[in-house]
Amino acid sequence: MKTVGLVGWRGMVGSVLMSRMVEEGDFSRIKPVFFTTSQAGQPAPDFGTDAGTLQNAFDINALKELDVILTCQGGDYTNEVYPKLRAAGWNGYWIDAASALRMDDEAVIVLDPVNGKHVQNALAKGTKTFVGGNCTVSLMMMALGGLFEQDLVEWIAVSTYQAASGGGARHMRELINQMGILRDEVAEELADPASAILELERKVTEKTRSGDLPVDNFGVPLAGSLIPWIDTQLENGQSREEWKGQAETNKILGNSQPIPIDGLCVRIGALRCHSQSFTIKLKKDLPISDIEQILAANNDWVQVVPNERQASMEQLTPAAVTGTLKVPVGRLRKLNMGPEYLSAFSVGDQLLWGAAEPLRRMLHLLP
Ligand code: HSE
Repeated sequence: MKTVGLVGWRGMVGSVLMSRMVEEGDFSRIKPVFFTTSQAGQPAPDFGTDAGTLQNAFDINALKELDVILTCQGGDYTNEVYPKLRAAGWNGYWIDAASALRMDDEAVIVLDPVNGKHVQNALAKGTKTFVGGNCTVSLMMMALGGLFEQDLVEWIAVSTYQAASGGGARHMRELINQMGILRDEVAEELADPASAILELERKVTEKTRSGDLPVDNFGVPLAGSLIPWIDTQLENGQSREEWKGQAETNKILGNSQPIPIDGLCVRIGALRCHSQSFTIKLKKDLPISDIEQILAANNDWVQVVPNERQASMEQLTPAAVTGTLKVPVGRLRKLNMGPEYLSAFSVGDQLLWGAAEPLRRMLHLLP
């Protein structure tokens, strides 16, 4: 049984990970050791296994004893601890939710339903560092995996509709607070069905622009609005989130000839489901029914939603998908540009397949 150090288990991604590990009985298959950056010596959490006390997450000697370290603590922790551990001769498996090591040559991005063979080859060659992908990338690949598997994709243009949780727990609170403040501003007008809608809108807009909404995390109001920029600004005009699309997808697939993927990443007022709209240039003209079969056959979680109004409204939304592992893909149709141009829309929980799930599955792939 492997001794697995868990770091960052209390945060948002960490909590989702712990709950999935409990649901799947993972703790009966490992010897967990819980680490903390601030409360060493206090009792460890009880997820059905007595794990003693919390250990200091910066204690390199304690970390060196572990077979595996699984961290959701974030990039700063990884940047501080990982090089010291490797320099100290630790040769265990490092499994990480943060992006810090993602593009390093020694690291493999793990999303086993899509790149399981690549992960197995890497393990056989002695790779010891496995990193979860960016959430939009992982969710796109879970949705479109069949097209990649059959080498049908010439390029993809994408627009994302990303949830507040991608920013973090405080971002989610801020969004809900903004929503509440705006609603409270017009409580009287809402209670009166005869009140003038444009007056109601004017008050909401005025409040939005007043500087009174909490914006410490997003920087600008998100409720009733959107933010067409996610992550830092690169010199070529892309946001870092947009850059990740092509870079990570091709690394996950192990492509030597990169598939061009680009588009716009946008924050919207959803809570924890990222949605994405794709224009896909296929390498050949295939009937939609074949495309649907190829997509549906790729993994156990993708679900093809018929391109119909009611089904799309009921099944292809954050409201329907949040908290589940399913990755519906729909709005599949050929575009006016020609028979090789396919539209698709998909939704996925950014904390499950977008973050925690590939990491807990990686634990079980270790030899
Ligand atoms: N960068 C993502 C977002 C988080 O901001 O939505 C998940 O990788």
